[in-house]
Amino acid sequence: MSLSALALPFLRLMDPEQAHQATLLALKTGLGPCGKKDPEALGIDLLGMHFPNPLGIAAGFDKNGEVPDAMLKLGFGFAEVGTTTPRPQSGNPKPRIFRLQQDRAVINRLGFNNEGHEAMETRLKKRAGRGGIVGVNLGANKDTEDKAADYVTGIKRFEALASYFTVNVSSPNTPGLRGLQSRAELEDLLGRVLEARKGQTPVLLKIAPDLVYEEREDIAAVVLESGVDGLIVSNTTIARDGLVSGRHAAEAGGLSGAPLMDMATDVLADMRRLTKGTIPLIGVGGVSSGTDAYKKIRAGASLVQLYTALTFQGAELVTKIKRDLASDLKRDGYKRLEDAIGVDVGI
Ligand SMILES: Cc1cc2nc3c(=O)[nH]c(=O)nc-3n(C[C@H](O)[C@H](O)[C@H](O)COP(=O)(O)O)c2cc1C
Repeated sequence: MSLSALALPFLRLMDPEQAHQATLLALKTGLGPCGKKDPEALGIDLLGMHFPNPLGIAAGFDKNGEVPDAMLKLGFGFAEVGTTTPRPQSGNPKPRIFRLQQDRAVINRLGFNNEGHEAMETRLKKRAGRGGIVGVNLGANKDTEDKAADYVTGIKRFEALASYFTVNVSSPNTPGLRGLQSRAELEDLLGRVLEARKGQTPVLLKIAPDLVYEEREDIAAVVLESGVDGLIVSNTTIARDGLVSGRHAAEAGGLSGAPLMDMATDVLADMRRLTKGTIPLIGVGGVSSGTDAYKKIRAGASLVQLYTALTFQGAELVTKIKRDLASDLKRDGYKRLEDAIGVDVGI
């Protein structure tokens, strides 16, 4: 058993937010676990970059850009830092992260607690030139009236430092944010964001799973018209369907982990159909095994991200998912990951 697996039972005894701080601290020492070499079949060229494997650490794990290189060393093919907002903000009162042990789920209402753009920029500048794919997830401050302006500020600030951008309009914990997903607001936001971009840094839009079909259609239409480079599907859900844990289930916030898997994969498949396979999709929500990752890919994802399962299963999960994904692909006769993208939706 590795060190990180040994530490898990202790971390689980701690308050979830304190456990997360302890994990970040351990990763910052640089003594974190080291992943194995990736199976060749898992490499993929996308968005003008080569991803050594399709598994990324989702936004929210490293809100301030403290440990992207530790996550890459651990075996993730890419790391997404943030959400970062122009000005630092403390987020909602604690407690604001809740573990639903039996459901292998988490509810969080952090509310974009983060140190702001300046702190993020300082850290990203320090690691610049090290290589590895590090995306920057952008958000808006709670008290900003013109929310789109905060995303534009982020694009300008990080263009030379980000491998890609995520425009996060889907956190349930900032009042008014998800309203940016509506047709008119999204057109305005994406127009301004893409206009602010000087070079070619890809811009991805991260959406919620709680969208009715008409909203999914609207988003697909705006995305295709605007020239956004890809979609991340999805953020946490405000739904509480099918939970077995009574404890914490009624807490306000976004639910992540196992109960989100099917719901987020359904939205992913819809977005694959609605965008006709013309833009890359990143599948996220409830991935806790190689089989889950494979399902996302078959539903149309070119890349996959996770967060919650890592807190339940520890760092070994990364190697395990890659190994199992490679063997699932081989079993089904796919030589490369690319060959399996979207096969379940026929596009
Ligand atoms: C504690 C916590 C904090 C999160 N913070 C962010 C965030 O700042 N920005 C964001 O786009 N997503 C955030 N997320 C959502 C994740 O990136 C991901 O979309 C979601 O958790 C579903 O994936 P999972 O089931 O693998 O965790 C957060 C999730 C959790 C559990």
